[in-house]
Amino acid sequence: MSDVRFDTVPVLDPASPQMRAWQDAVRLGFGAADAPDEALPHWVSDIVADGLRLDAAFSTATLPGVAPELDRPVATFGSATLDVNTGARHEPTLFIFDVTVRTTHRRRGILKRLMIDALTRAKQEGLTLAALTASEATIYGRFGFGVATRRRGVTLATRPAPAWRREAPPRIALVSPADGLAIRDAVFARFHATTRGSHQRPHGYTTMLSGAWDYDKDAPVSGLRVAVHTDEAGVPDGVVSYIMDESDESLRVWDLVAADDAAELSLWQFLGSIDLVQKVTWRHLRPDSPLEWALADPRTVTTTAVGDFTWLRVLDTPGALTARGWETDGSVAFSVVDPLGFAAGTWRLTVSGGVADVAPLDAATVSVDVTALASLYFGLVDARTLAASGLIDGPSADVDALARLFRTSVPPYNLAGF
Ligand SMILES: CC(C)(COP(=O)(O)OP(=O)(O)OC[C@H]1O[C@@H](n2cnc3c(N)ncnc32)[C@H](O)[C@@H]1OP(=O)(O)O)[C@@H](O)C(=O)NCCC(=O)NCCS
Repeated sequence: MSDVRFDTVPVLDPASPQMRAWQDAVRLGFGAADAPDEALPHWVSDIVADGLRLDAAFSTATLPGVAPELDRPVATFGSATLDVNTGARHEPTLFIFDVTVRTTHRRRGILKRLMIDALTRAKQEGLTLAALTASEATIYGRFGFGVATRRRGVTLATRPAPAWRREAPPRIALVSPADGLAIRDAVFARFHATTRGSHQRPHGYTTMLSGAWDYDKDAPVSGLRVAVHTDEAGVPDGVVSYIMDESDESLRVWDLVAADDAAELSLWQFLGSIDLVQKVTWRHLRPDSPLEWALADPRTVTTTAVGDFTWLRVLDTPGALTARGWETDGSVAFSVVDPLGFAAGTWRLTVSGGVADVAPLDAATVSVDVTALASLYFGLVDARTLAASGLIDGPSADVDALARLFRTSVPPYNLAGF
């Protein structure tokens, strides 16, 4: 890689030409057009709010007759410290954004260098976890990331109008997207505080859901509607943002956050009652949502997509395990196998009164691949399933003990993509 230089682009407001070039490189990597001038101030306010670091690789090669591309990265790698709900607390976590390598420079180890540098820095800074979303499921396992939350997309057929087992009290009001912001922040804060696996939302959610800018369309959002549900005391406990498409009489939910089941169901009943709508779509139904159970005809809901959502990487095994919330007391010894070394080691994990103690050991009969540890972390999957798949090895009684310890009563749920 002698013709590639690695550097960090300083974040300035307003955007510098280098920042613009970084943003255009991201767009090139994802097959989108360069950013229009109007998009930049929104992007700058997002990355300043998140404290995003902009790493990049630049080509030092030249083509005869072509001005050198000094400022235009051939690779981008964004990162920021936000937090995740571990079931016990909000744990600062390295969030990774905007990973691209230009087609001309792929498969030369550029991502590998940017990723290992970022994970090394994060570990030195004392972070225990890193998180990302993946465009392809084959990219990040080699860097120790495992699927940690999943998503399910659904369609609710609304003609004929759905019949509900119990009608919710009609405590819904429409507000403007701008007025809905503070309400959404308050409801999201309640959701994020109580939901294992929830990731902090980057500021781009504020930009999109306020209607200020739609990065997919590179224009202000048009037609965005916001409905707020309140509890008996008049306190907002649920918010839905949606856009109707009259061409096919559909309604697309952009965001639905609720502090509890009653608020979520009330919002669904509201969505199901909107005139001139045949179907309502939402990409992130809660895994244990009461929606289907609340309908007289559960087949009114169809699943349109199921897949991985966020991926997690444990950087520091004792740190991550002591940060986790535990529902069962017990003790188990295991080794973590991590080819990159960050999380590798052997420990005895003892949970008492919901608090973990992690003591180093010389040897253990159970070995857990670091990607499997990520998938156990929020309780997404049972350790026995991971053992059957080859990601955990050991005698079945010990794997059972591991499964009991990591099991959670509620599946993880996350409403933040990045
Ligand atoms: C994904 C991407 C960033 C990879 O960058 P890259 O510089 O080619 O990756 P590297 O050369 O560092 O690859 C490191 C390893 O991952 C493998 N790898 C990289 N991308 C892969 C992919 N999409 N599928 C499977 N393996 C992949 C490489 O073969 C290499 O394996 P090795 O270490 O065994 O030799 C690049 O292909 C890209 O920009 N894709 C389009 C945008 C995108 O999808 N970004 C990811 C957003 S989440």
